[in-house]
Amino acid sequence: MKQPLRVALIGCGNIALNAHLPAFLADPERYQVVAVADPTPARLQMAAEATHAQAYVDPLEAICAPEVDIVDVCTPQHLRRDLLIAAAEAGKHIICEKPLASIPADAEAAVKAAEAAGVVLGVVHNYLFLPEITTALRIIASGELGAVRAVTVNYLGVLDLPGAGSYRPLWRHDPAAAGGGVLMDMLHAVYLAEHLLGAPFVRVSGFADADLPGSRGDGVETMALARFEADVGERTGVAMVNMAWGHGPGGVQVTGTEGRLMISYVDDSTPPWAPLAGLTVTTVEGTRREDVPTGVELPQKMSVSMADALADIADAVASGGRPAATGRDALHTLACTMATYTSAALGRTVPIKDAGAPGVWSAGVGALAGLEMPAHSPVARGRLFRGQQVR
Ligand SMILES: NC(=O)c1ccc[n+]([C@@H]2O[C@H](COP(=O)([O-])OP(=O)(O)OC[C@H]3O[C@@H](n4cnc5c(N)ncnc54)[C@H](O)[C@@H]3O)[C@@H](O)[C@H]2O)c1
Repeated sequence: MKQPLRVALIGCGNIALNAHLPAFLADPERYQVVAVADPTPARLQMAAEATHAQAYVDPLEAICAPEVDIVDVCTPQHLRRDLLIAAAEAGKHIICEKPLASIPADAEAAVKAAEAAGVVLGVVHNYLFLPEITTALRIIASGELGAVRAVTVNYLGVLDLPGAGSYRPLWRHDPAAAGGGVLMDMLHAVYLAEHLLGAPFVRVSGFADADLPGSRGDGVETMALARFEADVGERTGVAMVNMAWGHGPGGVQVTGTEGRLMISYVDDSTPPWAPLAGLTVTTVEGTRREDVPTGVELPQKMSVSMADALADIADAVASGGRPAATGRDALHTLACTMATYTSAALGRTVPIKDAGAPGVWSAGVGALAGLEMPAHSPVARGRLFRGQQVR
């Protein structure tokens, strides 16, 4: 009989205990959680009680424990690089939460370590498994919409939720930790837009601002608008990703040469908090509504997409195949996100390569203040991404 993968859960915060752990515990044939690690006693105790696994304060000890087959890294992103490299060097397969790191060079170092060690590094790009997205991708691939000309992903009503109370609940507002604000936190929309467009992003024109009352001086953007470009033969394919914490609209639209596809959420709000309202396809034949489950509330929606994303990585380990999002895929998504900030800082379109500027690739948003920004730069005007906020 096939043995379950023996998992070390590294970082026992909200996503680890609310989404990863339930998926592991629900599928004992596939997973056995043998180690949990967190420096925060309250979180470690919660994880240990839920799993009866060996508890470690030092994550490196858990990673190197001989009984561990796969390491699941759920820490905030700025703490991941050394853990990922240690896991790869110890020959352990890796599940990693998104974004892969808060600095592209850190993500690249982890990817190279995993490739050198020949281990699977699968990144949790779980929104690829949402039923409305798998349905949309299937319809696009069928050719019914013709060639995709433009994609819009509106996530302008993202909830700004704190992290685990016993750690640093507001680390997402610290540019040195999070590596950006709402776009970095919800870069799900970046990889979704690219998958829907069906071609790799090569340039971006970005805007970022801290425009909510009281958000000036907060350090990270509360709104980011990005127009990504892909070279599709002789044409340019375009995807707009519009992202904000607050109360703006949510929804996805795909414009093809032969038709359109619309994904809408209840009250035009933003997923995954808002349930799906419907998915429609319109061509010269008329409009039809696809049979995708609507009205599914957040906990169930997230738990299913998370279970599917984790199982996809476990299957890649078992089969020697490729997960839906490899480390290289996630590095590219991070570079797209970071280049959006570089573009916003410089006030012009930039290449995705080097995240728009070599200094940003190696040091992340902390390098933006050193760029020559024009007076109209929203990053200069908003004094975004300066220094570390202590919370
Ligand atoms: N895929 C998704 O849908 C999704 C959803 C939420 C969060 N996330 C990602 O998951 C990550 C964690 O987010 P969260 O909301 O759970 O944060 P959180 O603040 O709730 O939890 C972070 C945990 O990491 C622990 N930690 C800190 N330093 C550590 C170290 N050196 N070693 C081990 N553990 C350490 C903290 O004590 C805390 O328990 C983030 O990168 C976030 O982007 C992904």
